[in-house]
Amino acid sequence: MDEPKAEEQSLNHLATRILVMNFASVQTTSTTFVHALYYLALRTNEYLEPYGLKETLRMHPVATLVVFRTTLKGYTFSNGTLIPKGTMVSVPTESAHYDQNNYQNAAEFIGFRYVDKSELEGGTSRRHDVVSTSGDFMSFGIGRHACPGKIFAAIIMNIMMLAHLVLNYDLKLEHEGVRPKDIYIGATRIPHPKAAIMLKKRV
Ligand code: HEM
Repeated sequence: MDEPKAEEQSLNHLATRILVMNFASVQTTSTTFVHALYYLALRTNEYLEPYGLKETLRMHPVATLVVFRTTLKGYTFSNGTLIPKGTMVSVPTESAHYDQNNYQNAAEFIGFRYVDKSELEGGTSRRHDVVSTSGDFMSFGIGRHACPGKIFAAIIMNIMMLAHLVLNYDLKLEHEGVRPKDIYIGATRIPHPKAAIMLKKRV
C-alpha cells in the first residue's frame, strides 16, 4: 500500500488494484481447476493419484496470447517481416503447446507426460515442474512479467483441491467418456461452462 505514487494511494485506486488482482487470480485458478476436474472425471481409473497439473495447463492455457508488448522501435526479421515502431505484439501459447516438434502426440492429453519426462532425466531437474516456464510451456507467460501467482496457484490447485477431491470423492462426467468442449472468448480459453460432474463421497 506504500508503494504507489501519491495520487494512486486513494482508496479508489487501491480498491481497483485489488479488483484487478482478484480477476488475475480467481478466474485463472478456477477455470484451470475445472479443466483438470474434467480429465479426472473422464479418466478416473487412470488418475486416482493426483497427476501433473502441467499437462492440463499445456492443453488448456487460460490465455491463448501472452507477453503483450508495444515495440519502441521498428524491427525486421530475417525473413523480411517488418514490425513497425508502436505495434502491439504478443506470443501465441497454443501453437507452441500443440507443436509436434515440441511434444510427441501433442494433441493428446497424457496426464503423466511431464512426470515421465522428469523421471527419464533422473528426476532431479525442476524444469518439468508446473511453475517452470519455457518456450514450449507458456501457460503462465514467460520472461519478466510471467505470472507472479503461479506458485500460489499450483499449491492451491494441487494440494488443496485436487488432492482433497481424489482422496474423498469418486467422480464421473454426466456424459461418460466425452470431455466437455472448451470455449473461447477473445484470447481467453475457458472450460465448458455448463457440463455436469457427479461427485460421490467415499465412505
Ligand atoms: C492457474 C492459475 C493462473 C494462470 C494460468 C495464470 C496465468 C497468467 C498469465 C498467462 C499471465 C500473463 C503473463 C504474460 O503475458 O507473459 C499472468 C499474469 C499475472 N498473474 Fe497470473 N495466472 C494464474 C494465477 C494467478 C494468481 C493466483 C495470481 C495472484 C495471486 C496471479 C497474478 C498475476 C499477475 C499480478 C499478473 C501480471 C504480472 C505482470 O504483468 O507483471 N495469477 N498470469
